[in-house]
Amino acid sequence: MKLLHIDSSILGDNSASRQLSGEVVKTWQAAEPGVVVTYRDLAADAISHFSASTLVAAGTAAELRNAAQQHEADLSAQALAEFIAADAVVIAAPMYNFTIPTQLKAWIDRIAVAGQTFRYTEAGPEGLCGGKKVVIVSTSGGLHVGQATGVAHEDYLKVLFGFLGITDIEFVRAHGLAYGDEVRTKAMSDAQAHISEQLFAAA
Ligand SMILES: Cc1cc2nc3c(=O)[nH]c(=O)nc-3n(C[C@H](O)[C@H](O)[C@H](O)COP(=O)(O)O)c2cc1C
Repeated sequence: MKLLHIDSSILGDNSASRQLSGEVVKTWQAAEPGVVVTYRDLAADAISHFSASTLVAAGTAAELRNAAQQHEADLSAQALAEFIAADAVVIAAPMYNFTIPTQLKAWIDRIAVAGQTFRYTEAGPEGLCGGKKVVIVSTSGGLHVGQATGVAHEDYLKVLFGFLGITDIEFVRAHGLAYGDEVRTKAMSDAQAHISEQLFAAA
């Protein structure tokens, strides 16, 4: 089983989502022998934003690309290949300014590719990634689930991966992390309990 592990927090060792996504992956490895993990740290090794240069690189034959265009094309190809190859994807998605980190959006822009991960048909769009499981570690300073303030965070990710055909999407949440030590500690231990007791209950 191939598992793609994505971190996107800019907070390094102080990151709640990094701590929890790491625990998801470790627990997964313990529950299912033979899990092969590919790791991407989008904060330490950011993918450039999808731009006109990305489009030009994609539309230029490999033998005609300059070094910068080849670099752009390689970034896209590698991110896409890792995502397509994965049976499961664990994504740490902190909330920054009511949405996901810009680094995570830059990755999404490389893996949402017409003809590869979705396609348009006469009947409408069709996701091509059915069968993958996605676990999203969702962290936030406040409380946004079910609120208008949360639509560009968890709801957006649900729409995006749903569009790619993925229906098995599970959220591990630690919210209200800015509401003081007591709330933070409880949110983190509830998330850890979710990981150890519920996430792999059927495995
Ligand atoms: C740049 C930045 C923007 C943030 N914006 C929000 C926000 O809009 N709403 C919110 O509830 N929390 C916000 N937070 C708090 C984070 O969601 C919270 O610190 C969470 O722990 C981030 O996960 P991380 O520790 O893995 O980075 C923000 C934090 C940062 C650093």
